[in-house]
Order: sequence, then C-alpha cells, then structure tokens
Amino acid sequence: MKIDVLLGLQWGDEGKGKIVDVLTPEYDIIARFQGGPNAGHTLEIGGDRHVLHTIPSGIFHAEKVNIIGNGVIIDPYILNIEIEKLYTKGVDPKKNLYISKRSHLILPTHRMLDAAYEQALGKGKIGSTLKGIGPCYTDKTARYGLRIGEILSADFKDKYMALKERHKRILESYDFDLEAQVLDKMPFADYEKLWFEAIEKLKQFSLIDSELYIHQALKEGKRILAEGAQGSLLDIDFGSYPFVTSSNTITAGVCSGLGVPPTAIGKVFGVFKAYCTRVGSGPFPTELMDETGETIRQNGHEFGSTTGRPRRCGWLDLPALKYAIMLNGVTDLVMMKSDVLNSFEDIKVCTSYMIEGQQVSALTFETLYQEVNPLYISRPGWNSELQSGGAFESLPTAMLDYISYIESAVELPIKILSTGPGREQTVCR
Ligand code: GDP
Ligand code: IMO
Ligand code: MG
Repeated sequence: MKIDVLLGLQWGDEGKGKIVDVLTPEYDIIARFQGGPNAGHTLEIGGDRHVLHTIPSGIFHAEKVNIIGNGVIIDPYILNIEIEKLYTKGVDPKKNLYISKRSHLILPTHRMLDAAYEQALGKGKIGSTLKGIGPCYTDKTARYGLRIGEILSADFKDKYMALKERHKRILESYDFDLEAQVLDKMPFADYEKLWFEAIEKLKQFSLIDSELYIHQALKEGKRILAEGAQGSLLDIDFGSYPFVTSSNTITAGVCSGLGVPPTAIGKVFGVFKAYCTRVGSGPFPTELMDETGETIRQNGHEFGSTTGRPRRCGWLDLPALKYAIMLNGVTDLVMMKSDVLNSFEDIKVCTSYMIEGQQVSALTFETLYQEVNPLYISRPGWNSELQSGGAFESLPTAMLDYISYIESAVELPIKILSTGPGREQTVCR
C-alpha cells in the first residue's frame, strides 16, 4: 500500500482539516507529519465547530487511528487543552491517538523566545503565531531539543532545567526577565506548572515508534492519509523566506516527518481556496487592500483559527498555485470556499506578474524581494447561491467555467469542490 498525502497549496488555512475529515472514512490511519500548534484545522460536524491544533483531523472517527508523527512538534499544555475539549464532545482520544516518541517538545521558554525574537524584529516581524515553533525547530536542528520519549526517563526534569537555563541566558540578552513574563494570561511559573501537569497526562497515551507502526500498517494493507499543516508557500525552503514557518510543509516533509520513503507516496491531494489568503507578514502579490478584499474577508470569515487575526485576502494567484503543484507532485486538486465568491459579478485571476518592466509567469526568487505587479484576467462570476450537496453538473455554468479555466491552466483535475464549511457541503467528482 501507499501513503496518500493531503496538504495546502497556498499560505495555510485552505480548509485542509475539513477535507481530511471528509476523506477519513476511506482510510485506516490519519497521520500529521509536520508543524505544531501553529496550525488550526477547523471541522464543522452537524453545525458544531471544532478547531484542532496538534491532533489529526480524523479524530472524530472513533474507529480510525490518528498519529502525531515524529516531524510534528508538541506543546503538552496546548495538546492537553485540545484533549480536554474532545472529552467534552464525547471523543476519547486515548483510544485512537498515538504519538511518536521522536516528536520534539515545545517548552514554555520556546514560546518566550518566539516573543522575544518577534519583538526584536519590530516592523520586520514574521507575524509568528507565537507558539514557539521557530525556536523549537531551531533546537531540534541544533541538537539541543527534548523529545516526547524522554518524558518517560528518570532524569527528564534535569534535561528540562538544562535547556531552560540555556533559553534563559538568550532571553536575558533580549532583556526578557523570565519570571516577570506572562504566558496565556498567567505568570510564567503558573504556566510552567500546568505544562508539567500536562506532561504527566501525556504519559497515559500510546507513545510509539510511529515509523515502525506505519511500515507495519502498510505491509498489512492499511490505508494511510498524511495530513499537512500550514501551506506550501510557507515552506522553510520554498516559501517567501524569512516569512515562512520552520518546517517542510510540502510532500517531501512526509518522508522525513513520518519516516517513509518517496516510493511509498501515493496520491497527493492539493487543497487551495478559490482565492488567496495569508495571515502574518510577507509578500502577497494579489493582496486586495480595498473593499473587494474586505468583502472576501467578511464572506469567508477570514479570521485566524489559531490567533483570531484578520487574514489578508486577494485573488487566486496561478503562478503561485502552479509552483506549489510542481513542488508537491499533486495528483488531485481540491478547491475550497467557492461559495465565498457567490456574490461577485466578475472574478479576477492572476496569470503572471510584471517585475521591473518584465513579464514573469513563474514564482522566481525575484518575486519574493522586488515590487511585483500582478496581471489579471477577468472571469464571469456565477452571482448566485449554491445548493449544498448537489451534483457537480448542476453547479452554475459560470462556476463550471471557472473550474475548467483553472484546470486547463494548471493541467490537473479538480476532484473535490467545497461549497461550505460543513461535511456535507462537499462535491466529489
Ligand atoms: P485549515 O487550517 O487548512 O484546516 O483551514 P482553517 O480551518 O484554518 O480555515 C478554513 C476555514 O474555512 C474554516 O473556518 C472552515 O470551517 C471554513 N471552510 C472550509 N471549507 C469551506 C467552504 O467551502 N466554504 C466556506 N464558506 N468555509 C469553508
Ligand atoms: P494551518 O495548518 C496559516 C504563519 C504565521 C506566520 C508564519 C510563521 O492552520 O494552515 P509560525 O508560528 O509557524 O512561526 O508562523 O506562518 N502560519 C500559518 N498561517 N495557517 C497556518 O496553519 C499557519 N501556521 C503558521 O501566521 O506568518
Ligand atoms: Mg488553519
């Protein structure tokens, strides 16, 4: 068997969580491979809204195994809140959530470092979610990090204190006095206490060698879906560096984040919105700073699932989409939030950019650092409400035209179309 992959093709928040939940019945195992609680994956089930940060989006299907892979970084405090919320909804993740012993731990001081670095950057800040992502992945690469498996060792507290001391020295150089800091509206010491309590609770979960588990499952013919976080344009190598996250968000990240070879990858579902959004700083060629951008924001409720920040909105960017498809080897496209464009008479699509008087139709290095003027074509809008759960062929003609225009531009079929946040508001072809 092969591992299928589902990931975002833009700057995150494409609607990955919803589609993973919709596709879960077709799989035995759902596995997150990178990122951490910077992610916010929203599921709407029977009118009830759930936001998942670290736990895979298959968790509402009790009979399916959900794995937090080695490439994910975990904040026990945040994970514990997530777990407690699931209990209140009648879901017991102790039964079907497995956690890799190799996943790295986000310490309270990683979050403080994130805040210190962002503060020091001032206007040039990345717009991080302040969940400690950058500092935690930095320690992983620098070989100072602590891993989930280590919470079981007798000297875990000592290892924690040694890393905390290291962080404290860096924080002092930024004039950050740890004991005077507040995290999640509580004094640092209180937060740290809750973090350790959450560590104790984590010990009740199945902590596993997820790479061995996954290989065995593949041998037994189990179907696995790898769930991405963030989006391809936030990838540490191929995103708009430095305004990116600190992991490989693309298909390649599945290999290192779950311990599977490239030959094990099957289908790649690439999820994108019918327009674009971005939260945080960094280049965004098709960003709309006008009333149209505001209309998209309001119609699409474009406010961050993790931080509540307003998302920047703009038209669909084809060069960026083609770039992401290329990096990921996408086989199946999934277009989200088409309903958000229901009220538009015309819909614009960016087909290339002008940079210093030159027309460029690829997302080259220069597009990240120079003034970019997008060139658009206009497509007729469908200007009508969509019926939920209808057949693909019964969608408005102008919408079908919009879809075939994109398909021919990127040379791939759109296999799934989402017309609302609910599970049932999905059209599969
Ligand atoms: P993710 O991070 O990729 O899982 O996406 P988020 O959950 O951060 O953001 C997607 C938002 O759009 C969530 O609020 C979803 O409930 C919502 N959503 C998903 N699909 C659709 C859709 O087709 N139409 C509309 N209007 N909302 C959608
Ligand atoms: P999901 O999985 C959208 C953005 C942040 C910031 C940059 C770096 O829900 O799609 P970080 O906290 O990683 O250091 O922030 O990346 N970012 C996201 N934007 N969706 C996400 O996740 C994101 N995770 C991080 O806004 O610009
Ligand atoms: Mg999100």
